[in-house]
Amino acid sequence: MTILVTGGAGFIGSNFVLDWFKTSDEPVVNLDALTYAGNLANLASLGRDARHIFVKGDIGDRALLEGLLAAHKPRAVIHFAAESHVDRSIHGPGAFMKTNIDGTFTLLEATRGHWSGLAADDKASFRFHHVSTDEVYGSLAPHAPAFTETHPYEPNSPYSASKAASDHLVRAWHHTYGLPVLTTNCSNNYGPFHFPEKLTPLMIVNALAGKPLPVYGDGQQIRDWLYVTDHCSGIRAVLAGGRLGETYNIGGWNEKANIDIVKTVCALLDELRPDPAGPYARLITYVTDRPGHDRRYAIDAHKIERELGWRPAETFETGIRKTVIWYLANADWVADVQSGAYRAWVDQQYG
Ligand code: NAD
Ligand code: DAU
Repeated sequence: MTILVTGGAGFIGSNFVLDWFKTSDEPVVNLDALTYAGNLANLASLGRDARHIFVKGDIGDRALLEGLLAAHKPRAVIHFAAESHVDRSIHGPGAFMKTNIDGTFTLLEATRGHWSGLAADDKASFRFHHVSTDEVYGSLAPHAPAFTETHPYEPNSPYSASKAASDHLVRAWHHTYGLPVLTTNCSNNYGPFHFPEKLTPLMIVNALAGKPLPVYGDGQQIRDWLYVTDHCSGIRAVLAGGRLGETYNIGGWNEKANIDIVKTVCALLDELRPDPAGPYARLITYVTDRPGHDRRYAIDAHKIERELGWRPAETFETGIRKTVIWYLANADWVADVQSGAYRAWVDQQYG
């Protein structure tokens, strides 16, 4: 028994692989193109663990996919690989269309070819698990009910539009070809190995460097925040027991305004690494808003709880404290990812 993970060197994928081996000896074939967001250092603690087979490659490479599927005969594909940053999608949407739409299409086709040739029992137990986002549902009004799985798709950014398209492809491959698919739509993750282009790690690393903490617009945009290992346990629950063709929302029951996230990070740093120059909140700087910025996301995670008994293990308070402590203890990891390419991005985005 083996699983094939795509994007397993990124933030959530690497946490998923590390978590997988805490509860399972089942090997993982990890296919990742190692874009700017993929980092083998995330998996360094595995050493030469024979259960982890890393392959550098693109999900758009059909021949590579067919070779991997034939050689390893995975019982499941768990598809994380994507371009994932909304701001980058605004500056350059092309890569998002290529990986998130074309790449998912190629992966679905290669997987369908593999799955069609399986013996009846293996065919019945095979799973294609698509990892998606709450952003496909668009933006909520302040008091509107949280997103359920039947909420209309209203993506507003090139990133969310590309993820919505990939969700539709996955759905269609189930309805048309019978491919045994599962889709999860998750809220904002935070935790270790989060690339410091996203809100929480950017605020931590900028604060420690004494740099401005750029808050878009009025900072009152709301997201639902989930500690990354809770996302991983939610995916494992759906993979093990989710109903075929179904979508499951995964969320933390934890709506927070961006400015409150930033202030919480500042307060934790004041406690754990006080700055002689004064409270870190002095660095908060309001900057031009993100174009098309979604105002509010909120996840109704009742379905996964009702059907599969999943709930997050971390509260926001425990998760964000663990996260800040991790970044304080892993300054080398941060320094490594802040490469030339990272600096070029920061210059482009923040001037
Ligand atoms: P990430 O950007 O940190 O990692 C993406 C990984 O995919 C990287 O390792 C990258 O090298 C790899 N990759 C990119 N293009 C590839 C390609 N063409 N072929 C093979 N590998 C490729 O992203 P993340 O935050 O870990 O997100 C993982 C998945 O979870 C994405 O599908 C994203 O849409 C989804 N998601 C993310 C969040 C979040 O808060 N980060 C929330 C919900 C859903
Ligand atoms: O909701 C799930 C999504 O969460 C995932 O699908 C995406 O892959 C992931 O990147 C994340 O998207 P967001 O756009 O919500 O995450 P980001 O960390 O970029 O921004 C979080 C909020 O903080 C958002 O409202 C924009 C704001 N922000 C972000 C940055 C980088 C700032 O105010 N300042 C910043 O510098």
